[in-house]
Amino acid sequence: MSRLRAILALLAAGLVLAACQPAQPTRSPAEIAAQAAAMAPADARLADLYSHACKACHANPGAGAPLTGDRAAWAPRAAKGMPALMTSVLGGYKGMPAGGQCFSCTADDDKALVRFMADQPVN
Ligand code: HEC
Repeated sequence: MSRLRAILALLAAGLVLAACQPAQPTRSPAEIAAQAAAMAPADARLADLYSHACKACHANPGAGAPLTGDRAAWAPRAAKGMPALMTSVLGGYKGMPAGGQCFSCTADDDKALVRFMADQPVN
């Protein structure tokens, strides 16, 4: 009888825990950094631009930049809208130098790079 009660209590605790799970599992800073280091744009030209510019900071946890693929960190940036983000990239923003250190990026490249790093729609 008491064993049955214990099993029921465990089941109930399991249900409560399952209900509290966030939709996306919470990841450690190390996991987020590892993912950022591993990600690259599928397009070869963008991948080249990215690896020579944005990646130096946006895959570097010490740079203070939102990391590539860290959707939670990018969500408030994405909410600013693409025009505002382009102003930040082109003119520089806090720790980011003007142009994000990409001297051959077109405006379309910058937008594609932002969407790639944010890993979510940015309009
Ligand atoms: C030298 C480091 C560095 C490089 C290179 C760099 N960034 Fe950044 N970037 C930052 C930092 C730091 C921030 C966060 C600034 C803050 O909010 O304090 C940032 C923020 C941003 C933001 C958010 C701006 C906002 O208004 O919130 C965008 C968009 C962005 N970077 C795009 C890019 C793109 C695209 C490239 C490559 C073409 C790039 N960055 C290259 C350091 C860099």
